[in-house]
Amino acid sequence: MKKINFVCIVLIFALWFSTLESLAQGSNRSVTAKNVEIERKINALLARMALAEKLGQLQQLDGEANGNYRPEHLELARKGLLGSTLNVRGAKRVNELQKAALESRLKIPMLYSFDVIHGYRTMFPVPLGESASWDTALMERTAAIAAAEARAAGVHWTFAPMVDIARDPRWGRVIEGAGEDTYLGSQIAYARVRGFQGSDYSQNNRVMATAKHWVGYGAAEAGRDYNTTDLSERALREIYFPPFKAAIDAGVGSFMTAFNDLDGVPATANPFVLKDVLRGEWKFDGLVVSDYTAVMELMFHGLAKDEADAAQYALNAGTDVEMVSRFYNKHGADLVKQRKLSMATIDEAVRRILRIKYRLGLFEKPFADENLEKAEVFKQANRDVAKLAAEKSFVLLKNQNQTLPINKNTKEIAVIGALADSKIDMNGNWAGDGRAEDAVTVLDGLKRKFPKMKIRFEPGCDAKCETDAGFEKAVDAAKDSDFTVLVVGESIEMSAEASSRSNIDLPGKQLDLVKRIHQTGKPYAVVLMNGRPLTINWLAENAPAILETWFAGTMAGHAIADTLFGDANPGGKLPITFPRSVGQIPIYYNQKNTGRPVKESEKYTSKYLDIPNTPLYPFGYGLSYTQFRLSNLQLDKTQILPSGNVKVSVEIENTGKLAGDEVVQLYIHDVAASVTRPVKELKGFRRVALKADEKQTVNFTLSPKELSFLDRNLKPIVEPGEFQVFVGTSSDSGLQSDFEVVNTLTAKTNLPVQAKDEKIEDAPKTPVPAAQIEAADDVFLEDLSKKTFQFFGNIPTRKRV
Ligand code: BGC
Repeated sequence: MKKINFVCIVLIFALWFSTLESLAQGSNRSVTAKNVEIERKINALLARMALAEKLGQLQQLDGEANGNYRPEHLELARKGLLGSTLNVRGAKRVNELQKAALESRLKIPMLYSFDVIHGYRTMFPVPLGESASWDTALMERTAAIAAAEARAAGVHWTFAPMVDIARDPRWGRVIEGAGEDTYLGSQIAYARVRGFQGSDYSQNNRVMATAKHWVGYGAAEAGRDYNTTDLSERALREIYFPPFKAAIDAGVGSFMTAFNDLDGVPATANPFVLKDVLRGEWKFDGLVVSDYTAVMELMFHGLAKDEADAAQYALNAGTDVEMVSRFYNKHGADLVKQRKLSMATIDEAVRRILRIKYRLGLFEKPFADENLEKAEVFKQANRDVAKLAAEKSFVLLKNQNQTLPINKNTKEIAVIGALADSKIDMNGNWAGDGRAEDAVTVLDGLKRKFPKMKIRFEPGCDAKCETDAGFEKAVDAAKDSDFTVLVVGESIEMSAEASSRSNIDLPGKQLDLVKRIHQTGKPYAVVLMNGRPLTINWLAENAPAILETWFAGTMAGHAIADTLFGDANPGGKLPITFPRSVGQIPIYYNQKNTGRPVKESEKYTSKYLDIPNTPLYPFGYGLSYTQFRLSNLQLDKTQILPSGNVKVSVEIENTGKLAGDEVVQLYIHDVAASVTRPVKELKGFRRVALKADEKQTVNFTLSPKELSFLDRNLKPIVEPGEFQVFVGTSSDSGLQSDFEVVNTLTAKTNLPVQAKDEKIEDAPKTPVPAAQIEAADDVFLEDLSKKTFQFFGNIPTRKRV
């Protein structure tokens, strides 16, 4: 273990954080004045509220799927007994219900929430797909468009972004997040919150965002939705918390609790995450809403013995608003009488929802504008961005002998697979107010692009593909054509919530269909549609080309047609690892090395007997129709102090014949630290667009923020020692260099040096007998220093029964 100058490093961090804080304070003065005014108004309102009205504010009820409110909502709103709804939307409808709320005694406006996940009516790619673009500016833009459409339709609050890190593709909800990586996920969380909220979500084109699901939901055991989790505090703080913190840094207005339990305490009633971390450490003053019936579920978890118990657990832990179940309202008054719940706790929760209503400007502007709704929703400019976002999300997984792009002079093409012409599937799950009829399918896209081309469509089978009855026709179509576009994958109900799969192969007999087309010997490309990584080993080995398109939204068909024919060049990268087998799960690039790193020739190393450790397609992977070359990786220093920065630069050149995008990725490895570090950690990335022969220098800075990790006391620290730097176009390859963090800089040499002020350990009081080094030990030590691990292989007599 390295020797550390703890005092020095702690001081550096204290200074760094306090500088950030004072900067933030300086820029926030006018916001603070506004906030003071809001708190004053809340105090005045709270003083006039009856307990029933307070509890009413904490109730959120569900509307109908089509956006209608329910008759009961009108009644409750008039009495001031309903604070918010979910799913009620559309300017006319929200205004009707709002009118009722404003007829109540205290005239507190209603707050309308909705799951605007990847678009309101104009659908962008599903979040995992959009994340594959690695283009945070674009993600901010699509979230802003979704916000503008939603707000115009009377929605104030979206339950997005989902920022759960997920390393298990069996879990259907990987589709809703940004993938497996904490760094990428944090950047995306920040961008999406900014997109939804802007700098002021009272504006009529913004909505309040929600960071969900707080927390650990993505770690559901066995990838089974809603399942329990077993996470150390280190895992929470290193892997699962940071995207939530990034959402807070972006100003997120609300959090949603997760369904899972954490260390035996369900997240909806967990004071450690809701109080200690969220309110205590992060000073979050926004709103916390339970997930759908999650307060009720505290009974099924086996925490609460009855409804009242569930209400008191959730409210006392800091869950302000109860979604759908009604235990706060039903039992709140009794709980107060029994002193199980204090009025102060209720007031605090009410204060938070009122605060949001003020911040949203609802007291001044409670109504939606029907004309704005007509002008804004699904406008052409929004659809243009949806097409761009779709193109940017595609990942080219394979392209043998430049099968793609397809030659535009091709006379006849076959389009095979039910997903190729399924409008609803293009939109993907969580499609907001998206309509199937709006979506452009792959078949539509191709027909509209080439009205004169002979295009024959054969589904082969439906997405479940339980029968091969339609295969012959599909094979005939392929035989009769010059090229086949074969669209396979999942239909929308196979991923997202409550859609875990134990087997993530292509569904049903779809692979048999692919094999039949393959046997024709005619050229073809596979277009994948799916919400999670799939185990597609046969395709990876045999199919000439594979284009991953996720669920690409309203404009998917146009974007896919343009990409297949080379009018758009795929440049996306996987935000999540594709395994070879479910047996490898969890599999992610930033794993630990283990004490026995894999070595194929050595039995007692960390590996499988039947398959390699490596994934089918690694995190960060993706091809292009053009080629790129990285060169000239340079670090501006070979040594820095723990407080220092290293500037990293690299040249990226498009050496092919077509314009294209490449994502330059920077990873580090802290070689030896007081807490073991992953083999690689993403710490920077940039998507660059280059014309043929164009070259660009990409610069990154590694600062204490990127180089620190949590020490044994879970405090951030930069430890002296060697850091490796990798810059590549995927997590599994790239150029490498290194530098060193030292306590005292040495002028010329790059060798580790003993810091002058370093504490020398005292000699032990009781003398320790000197170790007897024997010949065998020498072999071991030499082996260890070379890191060849021969020693393990040379043990002759190890036998297992
Ligand atoms: C999901 C949430 C969603 C909520 C409201 C729940 O089932 O877990 O992510 O926001 O429903 O629709």
